[in-house]
Amino acid sequence: NRKVTTHRFMEMKAKGEKISMLTSYDYTMAGIVDRAGVDGILVGDSASNVMAGNSTTLPITVDQMIYHAKSVVRAVKRALVVCDMPFGSYQAGVADGVKNAIRIMKESGCDALKLEGGVEIIETIKHILDAGIPVMGHLGLTPQSINKFGTYAVRAKEDAEAEKLISDAKALAEVGCFGIVLEKVPAVLAKKVSEAVNVPTIGIGAGNGTDGQILVVTDMLGMTQGFSPRFLRRYADLNAVMTDAIGRYVSDVKSSDFPNEAESY
Ligand code: KIV
Ligand code: NA
Repeated sequence: NRKVTTHRFMEMKAKGEKISMLTSYDYTMAGIVDRAGVDGILVGDSASNVMAGNSTTLPITVDQMIYHAKSVVRAVKRALVVCDMPFGSYQAGVADGVKNAIRIMKESGCDALKLEGGVEIIETIKHILDAGIPVMGHLGLTPQSINKFGTYAVRAKEDAEAEKLISDAKALAEVGCFGIVLEKVPAVLAKKVSEAVNVPTIGIGAGNGTDGQILVVTDMLGMTQGFSPRFLRRYADLNAVMTDAIGRYVSDVKSSDFPNEAESY
């Protein structure tokens, strides 16, 4: 039950052991996720959507990501904790990106950072790595660029984009990233990328040929509603469980059944 490290991620790839990851954004959930045995927890900027109710990941700030990451770090004993660098925290230049990276590491206590993009941000990634901070890449559907793409549809279906994705993945591996998230790309391409690099690929909507998988925890537990991409397997219907529990509480209060004598002082 030793703490999972970025080295362990690399070792798991070398040994062909699949890597399991989920997101978390708060102390209570992260404790459950960690004790259930995932290898890695991503404090995703999907917090912007599932915690704050925004329609994109763009509005979430460095301060808000630090708050979420700190809460997760306090709960986690075993899993590797990776924190997303939010939109705007590394796109304005190398020095700015390194400064924000150091700040997130220092103030949150997380183990590693994730940035969206390939060769466009390779210099920034290199300098963050040079500061001693492990970095995970993220290619394919990169939600921080939603306003450029205009859609959350599958990426890299065309040859040109697939070729760019492969060379981006090679560049990320070469510069020293310890892993690469592949989001919503064809399974055949994700498998090809996974075979082309010596660092683990973590897929979401990228088929079964990646070295690991990640899902948004509130999605896979069935807490979120109205989001049903084909890659999402729901392992529970917590929305129904929670709605039922809260409904029974409300009726117990209304009927004066709650609290009873044993529940009173
Ligand atoms: O923010 C997030 O949840 C992510 C995963 C979907 C990879 O980046
Ligand atoms: Na993200």
